Amino acid sequence: MSIMRVKSVEQSINDAEAPEFRLRRVLRAVDLLGIGIGAIIGTGIFVLTGVAAATDAGPGISISFVISGIACGLAALCYAEFASVVPVAGSAYTFSYASLGEFFAWLIGWDLMLEFIIGASTVSVGWSQYFVEALSAMGLALPEALTAAPGAGGVANVPAAIIALLLTIVLVIGIRLSAAVTNVVVAIKLAVVLFFIIFGAFFVKTANWSPFIPPHQPPEPGTVAAPLEQPLISAIFGQTGSFGLSGLVAGAALVFFAYIGFDIVASGAEETRRPQRDMPIGILGSLAVCSVLYVLVSLVMTGIVKYDQLNTAAPMATAFQAIGAPWAVGLVSLGAIAGLTTVILILMLGQARVGFAMSRDGLLPVWFAKVHRKYRTPYRITVITGIVVAIIASLTPINVLAEMTNIGTLCAFVLVSIGVLVLRRTRPDLPRAFRVPWVPVIPVLAAAACLYLMLNLEGWTWIRFGAWMLLGLVLYFVYSRHNSRLARGETIEEAADDL
Ligand code: ALA
Repeated sequence: MSIMRVKSVEQSINDAEAPEFRLRRVLRAVDLLGIGIGAIIGTGIFVLTGVAAATDAGPGISISFVISGIACGLAALCYAEFASVVPVAGSAYTFSYASLGEFFAWLIGWDLMLEFIIGASTVSVGWSQYFVEALSAMGLALPEALTAAPGAGGVANVPAAIIALLLTIVLVIGIRLSAAVTNVVVAIKLAVVLFFIIFGAFFVKTANWSPFIPPHQPPEPGTVAAPLEQPLISAIFGQTGSFGLSGLVAGAALVFFAYIGFDIVASGAEETRRPQRDMPIGILGSLAVCSVLYVLVSLVMTGIVKYDQLNTAAPMATAFQAIGAPWAVGLVSLGAIAGLTTVILILMLGQARVGFAMSRDGLLPVWFAKVHRKYRTPYRITVITGIVVAIIASLTPINVLAEMTNIGTLCAFVLVSIGVLVLRRTRPDLPRAFRVPWVPVIPVLAAAACLYLMLNLEGWTWIRFGAWMLLGLVLYFVYSRHNSRLARGETIEEAADDL
């Protein structure tokens, strides 16, 4: 009973056709673009850009966006090929099952849960901050006990829990509704981002861009961080300080968060009408649009305000305050609230689809994979996801865990890139509607770039990540390995009887 057993692409597709587990194929290319952009534009651009400019890269943060965007672009090419070959829910998990085998598939699925659940919780807390601030600006102050986690001076973060639960209802009612909600909200958030770029461009002072890449500052003597609190790479090779060329890379590792989301497009493969054609459009298109916007936003932002003043919770608002346009501050907050809403929605969608695929395969109890008779959505796993996100978001001061979203995602990108190479060798016969060019160069570069960014994350992040993966290993050997449908030779129809 090998843990490297591979689930063939044909088997995966066949499972997706079983009536008991069938999702509705309704998504079009434009919906996928909406899902991609909806998941991508969020905390990263609305918050992290300012922090990264102030502490790592100065106006050069636009170059950091290009570096991170290139790493994501390489990985996105690999995702696009995979999603066009295996148009089944579960994203990187399903791909790995078809190429690297069950053990790696389990690890990657377990890893994706981390990305999605912690990511959705983090963004729910961020949403709550913006929302509470907007309410108090309208004279409706909520008591602090109800708006912060116990560790952050409150009892529970109620708005964070409520938004997660409300979005769960939207997800259960249907993928079509989720896509419709997403499209409207995405339009609002795109309008706000474009407004920032176009209106802000009139207030750019080129003097603020100089120096474009602030000179490197070595670490100040006596301020050496504990080994686990610095990027792994500096713990290994010595501290690098800030700014200069190394600052550009550190900035890239941080703003990587802003790009997370294009990968989730692949998890909707089973609900897409023409996945072979539309998946590559959705994945590559949404990434391309967001990359251009990010570079422009960061140029305008650092052009309006000197970079060292941007280390604030809402740097876009800071920029507009600096030019004396308070009404524009309100507009940016609206965009941020709208933006964060769709990010939460889509991260939970991704989690529900990966959990659905893993349960249908028997690696998690098949009970979770039940599809709702009327709505054709995997409602059990969706509701459980929503409750877990609501609990974590309401009780945890989440800043420490945000980096974990990055490490989980980067690890998935590495495995997907390797998976493309493996599947090209083991199944050269499969029809590939989209092919990564210059194989093996691009997949190898993609894996290397993502690994390099991983090395730029904190030592503690690596330890927490290790602990989570260890828990996953234990679960695999205790439960999943024996209950795997592939291991037991159980057909999809037999699994349906267990529902
Ligand atoms: N890319 C998403 C964000 O920035 C996760 O919020």
